[in-house]
Amino acid sequence: MKAMISDVKTLIQEGADLTDKALEKLLPSADTIPVSIHGAMRHSVFAGGKRLRPVLAMQAGVAIAGRLPKGIERLGAAIEMIHTYSLIHDDLPALDNDDLRRGKPTCHVAFGEAIAILAGDALQTRAFEILSGLSCPPDASTQIIGLIANAIGTVDGMIGGQVLDLESEHLKPTPELVEAIHRAKTGALIRVSVVTGGVYAGATAEDVARLNRFGRKAGLAFQIVDDVLDMTVDSAHLGKTAGKDAATEKATWPAVYGVEQSLRDAAQLVEEAFAALDPYGSRAFGLKAVARYLIERKN
Ligand code: IPE
Ligand code: IPE
Ligand code: MG
Ligand code: MG
Ligand code: MG
Repeated sequence: MKAMISDVKTLIQEGADLTDKALEKLLPSADTIPVSIHGAMRHSVFAGGKRLRPVLAMQAGVAIAGRLPKGIERLGAAIEMIHTYSLIHDDLPALDNDDLRRGKPTCHVAFGEAIAILAGDALQTRAFEILSGLSCPPDASTQIIGLIANAIGTVDGMIGGQVLDLESEHLKPTPELVEAIHRAKTGALIRVSVVTGGVYAGATAEDVARLNRFGRKAGLAFQIVDDVLDMTVDSAHLGKTAGKDAATEKATWPAVYGVEQSLRDAAQLVEEAFAALDPYGSRAFGLKAVARYLIERKN
């Protein structure tokens, strides 16, 4: 058991290191003019994220290709830029109004609101520029761009989920509402990280369908755990303000089901998700281990 835990930690650390190296190369240096925005982009990207979406993409690539596909860290870096953009905007005063992220002052606290908004925008545009030049066949690259754009859009995607999340504050949450929020605001980007990792590695339409099924359940489980951690871990360990969801009466999974049931639901979703990976046998061990980590993590 102990060996398994240290293995997944190593696997995540290696994926995170590859991602960090790619990000370092792909982001403009902090002394590139205009320096304020490049400093802001780097502040948030290198503040200490777990890099779980890039690691999921990499392990989905391994499930399909049997080994880590060359250059996949650039896909991971682009996804991480998009994720970081979503966090910078999520923390803005007009959205969740947070001053702590990844253990550091949020982008708008450190650089001002205008630069934080633009840093988020810039991370997104840089990400799509990188996606357009991936080292995979052009039709795979085009498919990846379309899938990611769709997953972070307004219809069942990240932005749509953020809108629902904001508009549901102070309402009595129902199971249907919370599931819709979670699938869209967080689940969609997790799902598409898995799917595009597979597409990068040459996934067939059947593989894509399987990775979608897996990613959908794992993505929902991820946000359920995020909600639980908000209630059960302190800010110092979380690296973000704890207890924020209850204070702002967010529609969360534990607000509907309680903490204990939420943890059981997350575990069951991940267990169900594994069924979609059966055809890949031991090739999917890494992907399964990371999915298990998504619900066992403490921050
Ligand atoms: C936090 O995501 C925001 C959500 C979508 C719930 P992570 O928990 O992956 O945050 P980082 O990237 O490690 O900071
Ligand atoms: C954020 O959800 C989802 C996105 C950034 C799209 P939360 O608002 O729950 O994330 P945290 O808890 O601030 O990281
Ligand atoms: Mg939010
Ligand atoms: Mg938030
Ligand atoms: Mg949260």
